[in-house]
Amino acid sequence: MPDRSPIPDLATLHAQGAAQQPSYPDAAAVDAAVTRLRSFPPLVFAGECDRLTDKLAAVTRGEAFLLQGGDCAETFDGVTADNVRNKLRVLLQMAVVLTYAASVPVVKLGRFAGQYAKPRSNDNETRVIDGREVTLPAYRGDAVNGFDFTSASRIPDPQRLVDVYHSSASTLNLVRAFTTGGYADLRQVHAWNTDFVQGSAVGSRYEAMANEIDRALTFMQAIGADPDEFHRVEMHSSHEALVLEYEHAMTRIDSRTDLPYDVSSHFVWIGERTRQLDGAHVELLSRIQNPIGVKLGPTSTADDAIALAARLNPDNTPGRLTFITRMGAGQVLDLLPPLVEKVEAAGVQVAWVSDPMHGNTYEASSGYKTRRFDDVIAEVQGFFDVHRALGTWPGGIHIELTGEDVTECVGGGEELLESDLADRYESVCDPRLNRVQSLELAFLVAEMLRKA
Ligand code: PEP
Ligand code: CO
Repeated sequence: MPDRSPIPDLATLHAQGAAQQPSYPDAAAVDAAVTRLRSFPPLVFAGECDRLTDKLAAVTRGEAFLLQGGDCAETFDGVTADNVRNKLRVLLQMAVVLTYAASVPVVKLGRFAGQYAKPRSNDNETRVIDGREVTLPAYRGDAVNGFDFTSASRIPDPQRLVDVYHSSASTLNLVRAFTTGGYADLRQVHAWNTDFVQGSAVGSRYEAMANEIDRALTFMQAIGADPDEFHRVEMHSSHEALVLEYEHAMTRIDSRTDLPYDVSSHFVWIGERTRQLDGAHVELLSRIQNPIGVKLGPTSTADDAIALAARLNPDNTPGRLTFITRMGAGQVLDLLPPLVEKVEAAGVQVAWVSDPMHGNTYEASSGYKTRRFDDVIAEVQGFFDVHRALGTWPGGIHIELTGEDVTECVGGGEELLESDLADRYESVCDPRLNRVQSLELAFLVAEMLRKA
């Protein structure tokens, strides 16, 4: 990739117009946090980002499939051994289902180790407390303010950006330990299938597949083949690049290439609310070398997408740019075809990925934000159908999920109802698929992939 121009300073970026930024009350405290962050070592190595770009180039060419998943919003309290392991485990299980059932290489990308900042539709939140309305700044993720509905907790605190760094470092360290230290060994394929999943229908289906994999491994061993890939997996990290202070402070010049990388994650994406062509997020991400994504919702036109590609990937390098479409189950068949068709006709090199979550959120009568499992599946099915009709490659899925037994999305094999949502609703932002629902999704997507 040729040289890109240097990174503008933070003030210049802000002046360009940055949507969805916290209003910090104390500018000196912001400077102090940014100075701290700039002194910290990178969380990822730029060479790892390049490897991911290569893998996403394979996705762009139709030779691999991307599995990207994790919480809508990570929380500092959520950085526990159990929580990180369970999230990793469901991703490993989904990846093995997709790889085995569809015989396609799967690129594994966690939505973790940095996913702490949230865009919001409203700057404020109003609740009725003791009969009177109280309005406070909206919760923007642990990166910005606290979830508790008190004025003290909701004031944006830049020290939290330093906490994001440390929480991301702990998460990534544990993920690296698990994925290279034996936990992700294919011989563990049965061991991942424990607890509440085991007794479910999808758990039995998984167990049957794991038996087949076991036999294949035994055979391979018997003939003397024992490649490294059986013992470790490569798992990359990603998050939405939202708070400019954090992403800017973590952007460094790589000593190998003299080029800037955002070393807070392997992959970063621009959200649906911050993809303005002239805005600060597009500006900053246009300068870095990481593989990047852009969310494209129902209002995106093909011209928008082509213009974004020209800004963000002027050399049209395969693997550099991923479009993550989130149209909603009801609209995907209408909105996706003209988008894909025109973008492809323009010769844009891009990996197409489906986010079947963010176009399918609704409020249950009980007040919980939820999603129907059937809508999630319908949007992925629509995404596959559109790509099949156009002869393009459905490159992957982007899922909000957790390794826990939560009750946040309705439906699935366990037939969770709206009346079940209160049982274990733990997300501080959007509803996630639980582990059983995530595995069910993986089997259904594997079938779609086999037919693709
Ligand atoms: C998200 O991924 O959590 C999100 C806010 O998505 P979008 O930008 O597509 O709305
Ligand atoms: Co979300």
